[in-house]
Amino acid sequence: MGKDKDAIKPLATGDRTIPPEGARMIPIYIMGREYQVPETLTVMKAVEYAGYRYVRGCGCRGGICGACATFYRFVGDYKLKAGLACQTVVGPGMIIVQLPFFPANRPDYDLENIDEGALHEELRRLYPEVFKCVGCGTCTRTCPMDIDVMDYIALMKRGDLKGAAQKSFDCVMCGLCTSRCPAQISQFTAAMFVRRLCGKYLMPKAEHLAKRVEEVKSGRYEKMLKELTEMSEEDVKKLYVEREREPDMAEPGTWLPEDKEHL
Ligand code: SF4
Ligand code: SF4
Ligand code: FES
Repeated sequence: MGKDKDAIKPLATGDRTIPPEGARMIPIYIMGREYQVPETLTVMKAVEYAGYRYVRGCGCRGGICGACATFYRFVGDYKLKAGLACQTVVGPGMIIVQLPFFPANRPDYDLENIDEGALHEELRRLYPEVFKCVGCGTCTRTCPMDIDVMDYIALMKRGDLKGAAQKSFDCVMCGLCTSRCPAQISQFTAAMFVRRLCGKYLMPKAEHLAKRVEEVKSGRYEKMLKELTEMSEEDVKKLYVEREREPDMAEPGTWLPEDKEHL
């Protein structure tokens, strides 16, 4: 890493980032190279400010998609930290590497053909490593969503699939937990499987949803969709702006639009 700070010029890329006036410049290290960036930026914006362009490792920019998993350390500190690049603000001496993909265990399964009475056995068959958790807690300490990952793995082991599904619900599939697990468990893909099992076999059926799916399949909305796709962009924008909207403070379930043609 370079030591001559005078030799390092900030690179303004003209991207989305407009640093606040007077923001202090701090050194960070991206893939081992030093850059000066405004201290107010998130890691994602700092990386762009430094001159990189995201091709992968960036999606929603809002902490939802999990595409921007990032590891970092501070110079002089042994602790490895993790976060989402779009949510984590840079700090002086931050050494950053992004991990936009991690090779997790993703076994094939057919959700339609699972023995309803043997869901836990199916989890054991597909994800035997789950049952080798050593309870170290590294996954929980790594999770940027503050999910108690170790606990949902413990619930899986005990056969409490509903509990595991509920506890893992906020997972954004960033894969950071999996990258650190000494037992090589792919926590987030196992949790996705368990949530799918719950949705399919353990939760009450959503009858209203089944009815709506039937209506969609019957072609009820084809005409409306055709009309929309044939409209000009301007007309679509106008339609969007002028659409009937539910009032902000409406009592839930009480509001219906005047035009009920498409309900
Ligand atoms: S549980 Fe794992 S994959 Fe999900 S958000 Fe937390 S660290 Fe990321
Ligand atoms: S990191 Fe792996 S072994 Fe450690 S508690 Fe989490 S799932 Fe278990
Ligand atoms: S870009 Fe989607 S969570 Fe960061």
